[in-house]
Parts: sequence; C-alpha cells; structure tokens
Amino acid sequence: MATEPEPQSVLSPLTSAAIFLVLTVEDGGEQTARELLADLPGLTRAIGFGAPDGRLSCVAGVGSAAWDRLFAFPRPADLHPFTPLEGTRHRAPATPGDLLLHLRATRPDLCFALATEIMKRLRGAVAVQDEVQGFKYLDVRDLLGFVDGTENPVGPAARQAVLVGAEDPEHAGGSYVIVQKYLHDLDAWNALPVEAQERIIGRTKATNIELDADDSHVALNTVTGPDGEEQDILRDNMPFGSPGRGEFGTYFIGYARTPDVTEQMLRNMFLGTSAASHDRILDFSTAVTGTLFYVPSADFLDDLPDAPARGSAVGTAPPPAAGSGPVPAQADAPGPARPAS
Ligand code: HEM
Repeated sequence: MATEPEPQSVLSPLTSAAIFLVLTVEDGGEQTARELLADLPGLTRAIGFGAPDGRLSCVAGVGSAAWDRLFAFPRPADLHPFTPLEGTRHRAPATPGDLLLHLRATRPDLCFALATEIMKRLRGAVAVQDEVQGFKYLDVRDLLGFVDGTENPVGPAARQAVLVGAEDPEHAGGSYVIVQKYLHDLDAWNALPVEAQERIIGRTKATNIELDADDSHVALNTVTGPDGEEQDILRDNMPFGSPGRGEFGTYFIGYARTPDVTEQMLRNMFLGTSAASHDRILDFSTAVTGTLFYVPSADFLDDLPDAPARGSAVGTAPPPAAGSGPVPAQADAPGPARPAS
C-alpha cells in the first residue's frame, strides 16, 4: 500500500514567535533557491536540535511565477497568482513573492537564528520583499484585543482542511497558503465602545464567546460547501508592530487544501455579501500585501524534481491576475518591486 506523502510542518500548533519572509528569486538565482529548499529540513534540524522545547519549524512555499523557473514538474492544479480585490471601500492588493518562509518556534531567537542562516545562503540570489517578526500577544490576542485562532480546525479535521489529497495525486501532502499583511488604525479602533468592536468581530472581547450576527467578521468567514458543510482553513495569524513607529499589525496566514476557500472568504470580506457591504474589520485594518503560495510536501523537498532546462520555463506560467501590480512602498519591505505573478 502506498504511504501518504509527509507534509511540511504546516500543522504545527501556534507558537509564541514567528518570522515571515517573502522573497523574489533574482534571474540566475534559481539554483541557489533550489539548494536552499533541499537543505531547509536539515538546517531547521541543526538549529532546533539543541532546543527541543523550542519546537522550531519552517514551512517553505513557492509562488506561481517561480514554479516553472524552479522545477521541471507539473504545476500544482490550483497554483495561480493572488487575485487582487477592489471593493467599494477597501482593496486587497496582490504583491510579489516567489518564496515564502514561515518560521515558527516558542522562542524568537530560534526563528532569528534560522532566518539568519537561510538569508546567508540566499544572499545575492533573492530580493527580500517583506520580512515580519510576529509575536504572541497576551492570551493569544491580536492587537485589536480579541482572541484570534479559536475556530481553527484541529486533528484529522485540520489535515482534511489543509492537505491536498487524491484530487491532485502528484501534489498530495501539499497545501496552499495565502498571506496578507494588515496595518491597524488602533487609535480609531480603540475609540469604539467595546460592544461595537464585539459586533464587528462577532465574539465577546473578554470571554471570547461567539455572538449571533450575520454581518460580523466571523460570520463573513463562515463559508460552506455545496452540501452545506463548513469549509475550514488553518490560520496562524501573528501580531507584529513597532510602538515607536506607531505601527500595529496582524500578519494573516491561512493554509488550505485549495485556495478557493480562502479566496471566497476574502471576497466576502472585501466585496461583501447579502448581509454586509464589507467586513468592518477593514475600516480599521489596511491590507498592504497579498500573495499566494503552494507548499510542497516534505517528501517533495527531500527529493526535488529536476530543474527546468534553461529557457524552457518561459510562457508556461498563467498570466498575472488582472490589476496586480507593485506594492506600495513599505518602510520594512526592501528590495525592488516585481510584477506579482
Ligand atoms: C475568525 C481576527 C483576517 C478568516 C477571527 C477571529 C478573530 C479574527 C479575532 C475570531 C476568533 C477565531 O475564531 O479565530 C482577524 C484579524 C484579521 C483577520 C485581526 C486581519 C486584520 C482574516 C482573513 C481571513 C480570516 C483575511 C480569511 C481570508 C477567519 C476565519 C475565522 C476568523 C475563517 C473563523 C470563523 C469561524 O468562526 O468559523 N479572525 N482576522 N480572517 N477569521 Fe479572521
């Protein structure tokens, strides 16, 4: 009987520290990027081994435009550029990203040490589009003050929600991940009475009890399939910020078996539903990045397919999503902006 491919550590539990690196691969940097992907499990083991309680892990994702540059292997069925959204009030931009590295640990120094080692290997081969260091805040709250992550699936339900299965056998054990960096207007948010904040989120602030409201963030993100069953994603959101610079944010990261589910949630939030013109969380939170990646299985990294013959990748990726373009410059997003495809 064939064994199921081993996933990367996408199902790791929430940790108290994370680093999110979004990189683009420079022309000619492909081989270095491939070597890093192949070495990543070993590097993570080397740094994490001395601190087993630190639960260091690193998930690598590959963006749509990078796939054919890195691998002579069929594309994952649902890998495409992030679809930007233009609502009446709020927009979700698409921003560049060929590689995502999602580092997690119970200690920030372990994430830092691994990120340093990764970047040492990639220097000259990639441009850093974004780097965010996230932290656990109080009792797992986001910077809006609400407990974040409660309704995440666990156990077999999480595997079912997150891992590609028989629908794309060559990519079984993989996953799709969408990341978005949100900046909050905390002064405006904190000026709202707590009851108003609770109606926007759909949960009580102190006790985290779900409220009955069909236009809340929770309601807009409750998505059902054709048979009425709830469709879950696995979120590992982390707060980040810099009080000195007045920057307060949430790094949204959602893993799913197909990006369709997360994309439906985003359409509900930005374009609205019959119950709400948009998710009012967005009146206080601006999306400044948005990228979709495919996360291959650990087995795939262990035995990377061949690199494409030079020049053969041109024209095989789907065209960039309409409206995608460079990111508005971020103070902490060095590197040139490239088309988000
Ligand atoms: C639920 C915060 C963005 C999907 C929640 C909850 C909070 C929260 C506090 C309630 C507790 C929980 O179940 O986790 C935020 C913040 C965001 C953000 C601060 C960024 C500013 C997003 C985005 C998506 C999303 C972009 C999807 C694309 C969900 C889902 C739930 C949820 C699926 C659970 C709904 C349910 O109860 O079934 N979020 N969220 N969130 N959020 Fe978000």
